[in-house]
Amino acid sequence: MADEEIKTPIEENGSDAFLEVRNLCKYFVVGKNFFGRPNAWLKAVDNVSFKLQKGKTLGIVGESGCGKTTMGRTILRLYDVTKGEVWFKGEKISTLSNREFDKRRPNMQMIFQDPYASLSPRLTVGEIIGEAARQHGLVDKSGFYDYVIKVMKMCGLQPHYFERYPHEFSGGQRQRICIARALALKPELVICDEPVSALDVSIQAQIINMLIELRKTLGLTYVFISHDLSVVKHISDEVGVMYLGSMVEYGSKESIFNNTLHPYTKALFSAVPVPNVHVKMNRVILKGDIPSPVNPPSGCKFHTRCDNCMEICSKIAPEYKEVEQGHFCACHLYNSQADEARLWAEYEEEQRRIEEEKAKAAKGKHSAESVEEPAEEPAVQPPVQPADSSSVSEQ
Ligand SMILES: Nc1ncnc2c1ncn2[C@@H]1O[C@H](COP(=O)(O)OP(=O)(O)O)[C@@H](O)[C@H]1O
Ligand code: SF4
Ligand SMILES: [Mg+2]
Repeated sequence: MADEEIKTPIEENGSDAFLEVRNLCKYFVVGKNFFGRPNAWLKAVDNVSFKLQKGKTLGIVGESGCGKTTMGRTILRLYDVTKGEVWFKGEKISTLSNREFDKRRPNMQMIFQDPYASLSPRLTVGEIIGEAARQHGLVDKSGFYDYVIKVMKMCGLQPHYFERYPHEFSGGQRQRICIARALALKPELVICDEPVSALDVSIQAQIINMLIELRKTLGLTYVFISHDLSVVKHISDEVGVMYLGSMVEYGSKESIFNNTLHPYTKALFSAVPVPNVHVKMNRVILKGDIPSPVNPPSGCKFHTRCDNCMEICSKIAPEYKEVEQGHFCACHLYNSQADEARLWAEYEEEQRRIEEEKAKAAKGKHSAESVEEPAEEPAVQPPVQPADSSSVSEQ
């Protein structure tokens, strides 16, 4: 992996954002060679960058498997960072030692999709909510009960639930317990990974509204992952759209919804039902399945499914650039003529270089073969027949 790539001058500068992700990559090893060395990777998160300011909510959308969860987990270092940087409150956290990072961990919390799986059935609700806060010294033994009750009330849980067990509660209540457990650590950043997808529709709105309320009262910053665009539209200030591990479009909610740029985002948005019988839906049907992230398509990863695909798209990956202020998009449709000419020139140069390398390698192989040729032939020397063989055998 070319670490030099990320050591650009920008690394020397601090970050002025509350959360900044620069060229973040998370690759999972999915194949090893005979000697146990990795030789195949699944690029779950591939070169993602964004900046988020304090108190804002960033909604992350994209089809299942596009890398949303992996990105959230990698930001919080629940997965190792393969490449790239994460900056939090002006500090580069992606290279901190585990020990140093653990001190900051309470400040960055994650709420998971499945509240059933993440609650210990043996602990009471009060213990679940307060345990980590006590371990991190945020509350002492004498203040424990009052502190937990305060957090529970904030999350809409009755005080008498303190002594009860998670299995006694519905999905919505369990998700409130998970949220309370995260908030008991007084975080500033919360990554919510599909926090309402497993809940009944009637409960979803209650939880979403509670999260919005908590954000205001506690000054929280959210990264809100969801495949539900209406939820993202409701809660977000900024929106990022992911496809096969890459961020294809990013911007303010208004710019993304009112001036959608990327063909993939347009297709996603066109699938959202409009609750008005007089509005004709102009649905864009996405062709084919999402390709494998182990072997993604060349050039633009979306080109196999894009109705706007051009010649350049299957050959050259589009640059992720600011098309209008604060609105980023990775698509060749927004290239200027100069950009296009430069990209083709770079591509042709790269092709020439590859051809030269291939030719060199072939030449090297050829000359190595010609040197090795005699070795391949077993060096069987014809027996030297002495002029008088009988005299030799007699010696
Ligand atoms: N621990 C893992 N090991 C190998 N592959 C993984 C692992 N976790 C996720 N993946 C793969 O990474 C890709 C992104 O997954 P994920 O982040 O869960 O997507 P999303 O949350 O958008 O549905 C998928 O192809 C998934 O199979
Ligand atoms: S770069 Fe080409 S294939 Fe990719 S989204 Fe844009 S138009 Fe479609
Ligand atoms: Mg997920």
